[in-house]
Amino acid sequence: MRNLIGRDFISVADLTPEELRWVIEAALELKRRFYAGERVIPLKKGKTLLMIFQKPSTRTRVSFEQAMVQLGGHVISLGWSEMQLGRGETIADTARVLTRLVDGVVARVYSHNDLIELAKYADIPVINALSDKEHPCQAVGDMMTIYEKKRRFKGLTLAFVGDGKDNVLHSLLIAAASLGMNVRVGTPRGYDPDPEVMRIAEERARITDSVIDVVRGPEEAVKGADVVYTDVWVSMGQEAEKEKRLRDLRGFQVTAELMNAAKRDAIFMHCLPAHRGFEVTNEVIDGKWSVVWDQAENRLHSQKALLALLL
Ligand code: CP
Ligand code: NVA
Repeated sequence: MRNLIGRDFISVADLTPEELRWVIEAALELKRRFYAGERVIPLKKGKTLLMIFQKPSTRTRVSFEQAMVQLGGHVISLGWSEMQLGRGETIADTARVLTRLVDGVVARVYSHNDLIELAKYADIPVINALSDKEHPCQAVGDMMTIYEKKRRFKGLTLAFVGDGKDNVLHSLLIAAASLGMNVRVGTPRGYDPDPEVMRIAEERARITDSVIDVVRGPEEAVKGADVVYTDVWVSMGQEAEKEKRLRDLRGFQVTAELMNAAKRDAIFMHCLPAHRGFEVTNEVIDGKWSVVWDQAENRLHSQKALLALLL
């Protein structure tokens, strides 16, 4: 297996397009082997991963823990405030200590800059388990799911309908552009994606000959799309803006009618957890288009691939 040993994964942009393909290929291979009966492939025997959570998590936490078990390693999972971080020990000092004690750190934080700080002072791989800016592990699993369903990336169009500043969207933009997929974001004025993310995604899109567009209407976004993706309108940490966001994003719900405006064989994706009745209707998330449970399952195999390659 190829390796990226010692590298951090804070942004999808930390991997070249070629390296991103390696991770997806490794994930598909590990999933095949899992289904063939190899429940444990002890590539990380004797290694310990520390997971730090500043926000709630179901999928990320369970899939990373399960991934490490299936690689023959061990996991320690802690809440930010259970650690001395919660009492003001600096991120830099924490990073120096963790370097001496474990083989890698996975962290879910409010501020993306905290991850950058952690990675700066830790001499072990630091993996982003979601920040206010990106959710790169989600994007890797989602690209794996898209490949399973469509058997290609090049020329496909992913339409994202909803909050254009969403952390998951930011990672999807860079991942999709790296693999030659077009991305059309349907979002209201004032919700355009982060300019730095757009710059990186557009740079990669130029190389892979794909197109990134931001449009105002959900119908315009999904027209001819192979994948329709959405995420919550109020992300963790944005609770104070809840009322404004619900008002501004109301017209951007993914309904059956909207799915019918996409390609006939379009799939519906959502990173979950979903707010049913807000960004998506039950009819869509439980309907024929939906691949959301496959997405959740693929978090396990894609993160196994990431740990196998980075740790
Ligand atoms: N999609 C995702 O990261 O889910 P959790 O918040 O449950 O980890
Ligand atoms: N955008 C969501 C994703 C949750 C997995 C959030 O940050 O809350």
